[in-house]
Amino acid sequence: MTDDTHWVFGYGSLIYKVDFPFLDRERANITGWARRFWQGSHDHRGTPDAPGRVLTLVSAPGHLCRGMAYRISHSVFEHLDYREKNGYRRVEMPMTLEDRGESVQGTVYVADEEYPAYLGGDSDAALAAHIAESHGPSGSNADYLLNLAEALRDLGENDEHVFALERELLLLRAS
Ligand code: SIN
Repeated sequence: MTDDTHWVFGYGSLIYKVDFPFLDRERANITGWARRFWQGSHDHRGTPDAPGRVLTLVSAPGHLCRGMAYRISHSVFEHLDYREKNGYRRVEMPMTLEDRGESVQGTVYVADEEYPAYLGGDSDAALAAHIAESHGPSGSNADYLLNLAEALRDLGENDEHVFALERELLLLRAS
């Protein structure tokens, strides 16, 4: 790898909405973190008056979180930082590239409670109801969840939190 390139791990929309150039893409995982729909979205899947809910990562010792790693040129951070500007910070951590069986250091966008957009947890039913009614400039919050669930299935990832919310959302739609 040359000095100008960097690995970025996506665990949410960065898995299925790839609107940036990359040099390599590989299924990958990080350890010690779990996905949660605990982050507010004012700019993509909601509005400042009615924020939607998108993913962040919470500490989960021993838990393996599978996603997609991209090797990018450093200049691509300008686009990614703008896209993830609503409360995410860049965290450097080790990630395992699954096909190569190699561990590399890379960047993950994580949002936590220090930021005003953070919403925190709720019951699965309440989270799904919130997601069902939210919309923003990037589309419906429901599509964020459904696209993510499909992308995780394609990766062979069994994420109980995401799949429970997907079930709740589909029940709401059927009722
Ligand atoms: C990510 O996908 O890695 C960050 C959260 C998101 O944009 O959904």
